[in-house]
Amino acid sequence: MIAIGSDHGGFELKEHILKHLRAKGVLVKDFGVHSEASADYPDCARPVCEAVLNGECERGILVCGTGIGISIAANKFKGIRAALCSDVFSAKMAKEHNNANIICLGGRVTGRELAFMIVDTYMNAEFQGGRHADRIKKIHQIEK
Ligand code: RB5
Repeated sequence: MIAIGSDHGGFELKEHILKHLRAKGVLVKDFGVHSEASADYPDCARPVCEAVLNGECERGILVCGTGIGISIAANKFKGIRAALCSDVFSAKMAKEHNNANIICLGGRVTGRELAFMIVDTYMNAEFQGGRHADRIKKIHQIEK
């Protein structure tokens, strides 16, 4: 199960990504928002981060206007590694090297088709472990 959420600035792109993934048969839980009414991105990040941290969802996707605010908020949750991605290479590396459990996109930055490629690339990538796992352990040390 994939968790997805956005604020109002990411709402439109979030809806497109949701439809895109569901059309491919991916199970996605939509944590809102459900309209373009103004919403605060830290509030929107929370349920997606909690679903990833409690194991309900394996990965998450968060969208705000730029992707910046919602990624900053998500990375305050201990155990969340949220990567703001606006290109396909970064989306691949975010999983392979950083084992990102959430990717963030900017609904006012990244076009729909590119966003689909970014999401698909992230979804198909696998963490490479090894030296990258050692580096992530050092992130856990910082969290402590
Ligand atoms: C909302 O206007 C906007 O600030 C928000 O979506 C996001 O871009 C913040 O980083």
